[in-house]
Amino acid sequence: MWAFFISTLSIGLCSLYTPEQVHIAWTDNDQSMSVTWGADESSVGSMVQWTPIQSHNQTVKSYAYSALGTWIVFPNMQVSKILQRHIHVCKAYMTNLIQGNLYAYRVGSDIYGWTDQFSFQAKKNYQNNQMTRLLVYGDLGIGDQIIATMQRLIEETNTYEYDAIIHNGDIAYDLDTNQGKYGDIFLRSVEPIASRLPYMVSQGNHESGPVLPHYINRFQMPGNISNFWYSYNTGMAHIIAFNTEPIFDGLNDLQAQQMVFLQNDLKNYDKQKYPWLIVYGHRPMYCSPNLTTTALLKEIPRYRWNPDCQENADFVRSVFEDVFYNAGADMVITGHVHAYERLSSVYQNISVPCEYQDQNTCIGSKAPVYIVTGVPGQDDCYAPISPTPLPFSMAQDDKLGISI
Ligand SMILES: [Fe+2]
Repeated sequence: MWAFFISTLSIGLCSLYTPEQVHIAWTDNDQSMSVTWGADESSVGSMVQWTPIQSHNQTVKSYAYSALGTWIVFPNMQVSKILQRHIHVCKAYMTNLIQGNLYAYRVGSDIYGWTDQFSFQAKKNYQNNQMTRLLVYGDLGIGDQIIATMQRLIEETNTYEYDAIIHNGDIAYDLDTNQGKYGDIFLRSVEPIASRLPYMVSQGNHESGPVLPHYINRFQMPGNISNFWYSYNTGMAHIIAFNTEPIFDGLNDLQAQQMVFLQNDLKNYDKQKYPWLIVYGHRPMYCSPNLTTTALLKEIPRYRWNPDCQENADFVRSVFEDVFYNAGADMVITGHVHAYERLSSVYQNISVPCEYQDQNTCIGSKAPVYIVTGVPGQDDCYAPISPTPLPFSMAQDDKLGISI
């Protein structure tokens, strides 16, 4: 009887405090990496341990460095106070990394157990114009619809040939659904890739309102401003995550802060060292609506929600287009529409020809090239190809996919 009770108790403790949902992200410091994980309950002494390795498949017996994590506990907003679930998230930083070196790491504690060994490459210190490689998508849910995408992402990241993953909004549908368990499921799903490569997120419309605490607390982006917007450099690119949601949520003060950030950031980054300027956010500034009468049929779940490519796109453009155009941005990447679309360089709804241009190439652009990449997998809403593409639409695809 007692033996049974004790073993039950220990299993219970194990599951309550076991660290999981491990994901890493770049920080404001090129020699550090943040790591975030979750558990059902916070525990004293939770930490990250890390150590240099020679190859990703090297198994380590001991770790040279450690740093204590900080627990954040926040209530899920959706349920009544009596049933309210609290989410426990722990954040820590691996610091003094040597750029380009490989590291093994794990999180947890001696008392409550450790995760398996993970590994990553510290941010490269690029020389000789090496290429930066990013995996990019918005709008990734959970469950059956993401199985194929996750298999592909795991294959792609097996070789660690990428620098980071960008998920530009709409995460898990939604992080707070079912008392936040969708957030847990999502972060477990992406752990194989997000524990290897920095998983950089931006806010989508599915991270607003009651979901916002999950977005703020379950991720740790550079800039220390609640993951609302930030920038970083990689290879020869300066990359900015901007936020399309404050203008739709009527958060005028927040939006004013964002514009100050963008103006300062665009003025001050090193344009010699980082000649490429790439920005990503959630909602498109350009995409092709379906102007035929079939659009009115709205054959759910496959229909294109035209306001996203019409008045909402106009709204986003009215606020952000000049900011990025005037700064000489090369590429604006968005999601939200659950399809892929690539548009040639364009300004104020008029194509601005590149010095050389064909369907797949733009060399010497005079305005940003726009890409919508929102089709890695989401349960109930894929946007079919628009039969009435914008005159500067270069390619469309409505099959599951990610961008590289
Ligand atoms: Fe969206």
